[in-house]
Amino acid sequence: MQNVSYRPVAADCFSDDERAAVYKAIYTRRDVRDQFLPKPVLDDILMRLLDAAHHAPSVGFMQPWNFIVIRDEARKAEIYRAFTRANEEAKSLFSDERQALYASLKLEGILKAPVNLCITCDRTRGGKVVLGRTHNHQMDLYSTVCAVQNLWLAARAEGIGVGWVSIYRDQDMRHILGIPGHVEIIAYLCVGYVDELYDAPELQKRGWAKRLPLENLIFQDQWQDTTSISSDLPHQDPADASLATPSTSD
Ligand SMILES: Cc1cc2nc3c(=O)[nH]c(=O)nc-3n(C[C@H](O)[C@H](O)[C@H](O)COP(=O)(O)O)c2cc1C
Repeated sequence: MQNVSYRPVAADCFSDDERAAVYKAIYTRRDVRDQFLPKPVLDDILMRLLDAAHHAPSVGFMQPWNFIVIRDEARKAEIYRAFTRANEEAKSLFSDERQALYASLKLEGILKAPVNLCITCDRTRGGKVVLGRTHNHQMDLYSTVCAVQNLWLAARAEGIGVGWVSIYRDQDMRHILGIPGHVEIIAYLCVGYVDELYDAPELQKRGWAKRLPLENLIFQDQWQDTTSISSDLPHQDPADASLATPSTSD
C-alpha cells in the first residue's frame, strides 16, 4: 500500500462560540424569495461560497458538480418565463382553497436576486466505475445536494440569502442554459444579500406546512409505523396524485 502522510486535526478544535456559530447557521438558514437586496455579490465572496460547495463530501471523491453563474438579466428573464409556465401548471393541480393559498405564495426570487446559480451533476465524471457508486448509482446526485447545502450554510454566515427554485420543466432549463443530456440539473438557486429573514420557514408562516415533530421521525433498529407522521402532514388533495408521476414526454 502506498505510504500516505497523515497530519491529524484535533477533533475537539471548536470553541464554544465556534460550535454555536455552526448551529446558528443551521437553525437560522432560510429559503429566501422576496427579501433580496440589489447590492451586488462581489466575485471573491461568491468564490468563497462556491469553494464551500466544492468542499462537500462526494461519492468516491467524484466531485460531480458544476456551477453556472447567471447574472445576465435577459437570461434570468428567460428562466423566469420558464418558472411562470411551470408554476401555472403546478397551481392547477391543487384544488380550491389550497390553490388560492398556493397562488398567494411567492416561490422564487429569480429577477430580484442579483445572482442566480444553476448547480449540476455530471453523471459521467470519473468514468463508468466510481468507488461507492457501483450499487447505488444515484449517489453522485446526493453528493451534489451536499454541495448545495454547504453553499447555503456558508451564505447564511455571509449575510447572503439563498432561495431554491424547482418549479420549471427540466427541458426548458436545459435549453436555456445549454446543459447536455449526461448532466443532471440539481439546483437552481437565487442568491443575494438580505437584511432580514423569516424566523421560521415561510411556508409554515403562511400556513402551507409545518415542521414535523422530530420524535415521530426517529425509528429504533428497524422501520416503524408512520401513521403519526401522515397525520401531521398537510391535507393532500386528490389532484396531487398527478404530481407524483410527472410527464416526461413534453
Ligand atoms: C430541493 C428543494 C427544492 C425547493 N424548491 C423550492 C421552490 O421551487 N420554491 C420555493 O419557494 N421554495 C423551494 N424550496 C424551499 C423550501 O420550500 C424550504 O426549504 C422549506 O419550506 C423550509 O423552509 P426553510 O428552508 O426556510 O427552512 C426548495 C427546497 C428544496 C430543498
